[in-house]
Amino acid sequence: MPKRIVILSGAGLSAESGLGTFRDTDGLWTQYDLSEVATPEGFAADPAKVHGFYNARRANCLEALPNAAHHALAALQARAGLEVTLVTQNVDDLLERAGAHDVIHMHGQLTRALCAGCGHRWDAPRTMAPEDPCPACNRSATRPDIVWFGEIPYHMDAIEDALFRADLFVSIGTSGEVYPAAGLVQEARVAGIPTLELNLEPSSGSALFSDARYGPATDIVPAWVAELSGADRAPS
Ligand code: APR
Repeated sequence: MPKRIVILSGAGLSAESGLGTFRDTDGLWTQYDLSEVATPEGFAADPAKVHGFYNARRANCLEALPNAAHHALAALQARAGLEVTLVTQNVDDLLERAGAHDVIHMHGQLTRALCAGCGHRWDAPRTMAPEDPCPACNRSATRPDIVWFGEIPYHMDAIEDALFRADLFVSIGTSGEVYPAAGLVQEARVAGIPTLELNLEPSSGSALFSDARYGPATDIVPAWVAELSGADRAPS
């Protein structure tokens, strides 16, 4: 029975809450040119377009509800005797709204705003616009607090610290296409940590995992969590 579990999640965790993914057939990157809405260059070229893209995602997120997989992970994290570190590439707050705590958002959060001028962060309003003044420095340099392509993901030290203390690494609902998140499974393997992939279908990194279950997250994640609970109660 693992006692220190690091769980990386991606868009597949929130797909059944209606929040779309990026690289599936109808994914966001089939509808938008990511270079225009998810890069610093795109923001510099047309900040109103980028704010419009994230305002729409923020509205979708506010309308969405956590699904059974979010709730299962929050319940797992609440289990006594377990240290569960939830690392997510997702920028939604569905894990928090399911009751999870200390979620590590390595790609930022839709619910937060950032001043590109002074670095101040604050809770994002429902809609943002380029002319919004920063509450701290009053400059109109506000942006979504999202990590764009070409930028450094957040909290990598905390993620690595948790990973190297872990006795199980689990990846849920991610294609394994974007680094450094996609490299965590290899780091776990090199450290001799068992790895488990829970995904709709094998990801790009599926061969790197020592175990895997495939299916919709709302099926396989609660089933896996229940199995862990059973293992916990099984006679030792
Ligand atoms: N249940 C489980 N997995 C699912 C489900 C589901 N219902 N639906 C889709 N998936 C899986 C897909 O099979 C795919 O492997 O989720 C994964 C989604 O992959 P992507 O769309 O690439 O999303 P993600 O891996 O989170 O992308 C990583 O890329 O664009 C950047 O910053 C963005 O954080 C994002 C990063």
